[in-house]
Amino acid sequence: MTCLETELEGRPCGELLESCIPVLETERLVLRAPRFEDARAIAAVADDRRIAEMTANLPHPYAEKHAENWIANAWSGPDHPFLITLKTNGAPIGATGFVMPELGDPEIGYWLATAHWGKGYATEAARAVVDHLFTQHGVAAVAASARVVNPGSRRVIEKCGFQWIGVGLMRSRLLASSVPVDKFRLDRSTWASIKAWRDPILRRSVPEGLTD
Ligand SMILES: CC(C)(COP(=O)(O)OP(=O)(O)OC[C@H]1O[C@@H](n2cnc3c(N)ncnc32)[C@H](O)[C@@H]1OP(=O)(O)O)[C@@H](O)C(=O)NCCC(=O)NCCS
Repeated sequence: MTCLETELEGRPCGELLESCIPVLETERLVLRAPRFEDARAIAAVADDRRIAEMTANLPHPYAEKHAENWIANAWSGPDHPFLITLKTNGAPIGATGFVMPELGDPEIGYWLATAHWGKGYATEAARAVVDHLFTQHGVAAVAASARVVNPGSRRVIEKCGFQWIGVGLMRSRLLASSVPVDKFRLDRSTWASIKAWRDPILRRSVPEGLTD
């Protein structure tokens, strides 16, 4: 039985769905369910060709109705998106999430408003989604991919600990064609090693004289 089916009847659909979607908090961000009242703000930041050309499905131009459609379908199928918001003021600045296929590894994805590129937000958000998948979904591995012409996204993937496993093709909605992508994978043992690797300087902070 799904979370939705266990909820009490009679609650508004949006509220019911949102109550099932986790909120992921990081140092600077809150990742949460997108709501219909976010649609205008989402359209304002998503309407940029530089974002659409690197993602598979983001429409361009991006109108409020596209945001509403995205919100309406969130978490009802394989797509599990989070809105990325700033902790300081709650402003939506992008989206992340994962696709959970019936077979194979879940794949993460993300995009960020161009005004917020280069501040480490995508890495911060992607790491939160990766942690969520390993800790809450018990997955064996997580997948990611990036267009071969997208070094920024490749760097985000690498900073999350993923390893390159090969190349493939992605269908681009904007370009109406298939484009080459690099494919990456992060398995549970590698993720666990990264999470366990604390700053070695801290381990040395014992009183002088007790060290070798
Ligand atoms: C890719 C994207 C999500 C990155 O967001 P971001 O918040 O700027 O990412 P971060 O700041 O966490 O990290 C970006 C890294 O890429 C590096 N980078 C950015 N552009 C680069 C380029 N042209 N060449 C090499 N490295 C680049 C940055 O220096 C940074 O690495 P560093 O921390 O080692 O310096 C953002 O540019 C975006 O939304 N692009 C359009 C949509 C997209 O590509 N989505 C991913 C689809 S796979």
